[in-house]
Amino acid sequence: MKRLFESYKDYFRLGAAISGIILMNDDEKTAFFQQMKARFEDFKKNFKPTPQFPEFKFPEPQPLPAGTMPDTQLAASQFNLVVAENECKMGSIYHKGPDGQPFFDFAAADRLRDFAKANGQDMRWHTLVWHNQSPDWIFKNDDGSKASPELLEERLKNYIFTVGERYRDDICSVDVVNECISDKNFILRDGADRSQWFDILGPDYVDKAFFWAKEAFSKSSLVINDYNLEMVPGKREGMYKLVKGMLERGVPVDTVGLQMHINIDYPPVSEIEKTIELYGSLGLKVIVTEMEISMYADREQNEGKFEPRKKYTAELLEKQADRYEEIFECFKKEARAGILKDVVLWGITDRMSWKNNFPVPGRTDAPLLFDGEGKPKPAFDRLCK
Ligand code: XIL
Repeated sequence: MKRLFESYKDYFRLGAAISGIILMNDDEKTAFFQQMKARFEDFKKNFKPTPQFPEFKFPEPQPLPAGTMPDTQLAASQFNLVVAENECKMGSIYHKGPDGQPFFDFAAADRLRDFAKANGQDMRWHTLVWHNQSPDWIFKNDDGSKASPELLEERLKNYIFTVGERYRDDICSVDVVNECISDKNFILRDGADRSQWFDILGPDYVDKAFFWAKEAFSKSSLVINDYNLEMVPGKREGMYKLVKGMLERGVPVDTVGLQMHINIDYPPVSEIEKTIELYGSLGLKVIVTEMEISMYADREQNEGKFEPRKKYTAELLEKQADRYEEIFECFKKEARAGILKDVVLWGITDRMSWKNNFPVPGRTDAPLLFDGEGKPKPAFDRLCK
């Protein structure tokens, strides 16, 4: 099979998010599945209906296939850039020991780094500061009360410098701050909007994280990453104002990351182009960090309703291929203009995509380039020129 990244090597690096699961051996997969199952049972037992989830429709976790999964071989052969889907998030690495002292677990991050090295691939780091998947303890004192700004700052600095020391030479770009723009008012997400970073440290935490990351990851480009920038003009503008201010204050941000969790109908390629060029006009680089094309419209574009499960007909798969192709042509143009540097897909096979059961439990999706068995979909054939 032709290697996909080779079609784009004169334009941008082509990456994929790697789930830690696909690098596990069979014993680890079994243990992981048992853990998932226990968590699922617990969740089911304590489930309380909410307006968003009036019924329990979450599917039971299934055992993972034994042996090498198709994702693993495809990860090694089709991409020249990798990023951990979960294993480099703070919650996976930064723990509090029984002695009350922080400790670091780098096992899964090291494994991905070694995989990338063995396959001659570059690696990104996702992510240093995010309101999700951060460990709870970091925001608290031993007695459970809220940590002081001084303590939280010390913990964050310790984290950034320890991670930087270990991975500085292996990482080409770092998502320093992830998803910090609010969807409500397009300014910095605050405590009421689930950011405990903002709640305790105030708005300066973004600038500070970039200054520390500049020192700790001296060889990497420094990225501010967010979703819906190409979908929602107000959010795009909000990010523009934020990074413009950062540049004026001398904060070392150099790249905007567009997650690009987009769908089969929306947004039009012209909006994507406009977004890339807007950040480019500030002298910033742009990378696409988490792309996939869902088969389902967002609720916001569908009168507030989620679409029911569809059949993935040949026609729909062709439509998805058209869309990937058209958008990748735009990426090539923006790479030629010197703005776009990397494109990363958020997964490899549809079977492993985070869009299965999200945002609708019980509904699968088919947003990636390879089907559940690892066979190339029409979108792959179209991109692999
Ligand atoms: C997702 C992972 O894909 C899932 O496996 C996990 O359960 C939740 O996080 N934006 C991000 C990513 O920045 O880290 C998220 O990844 C998807 C949305």
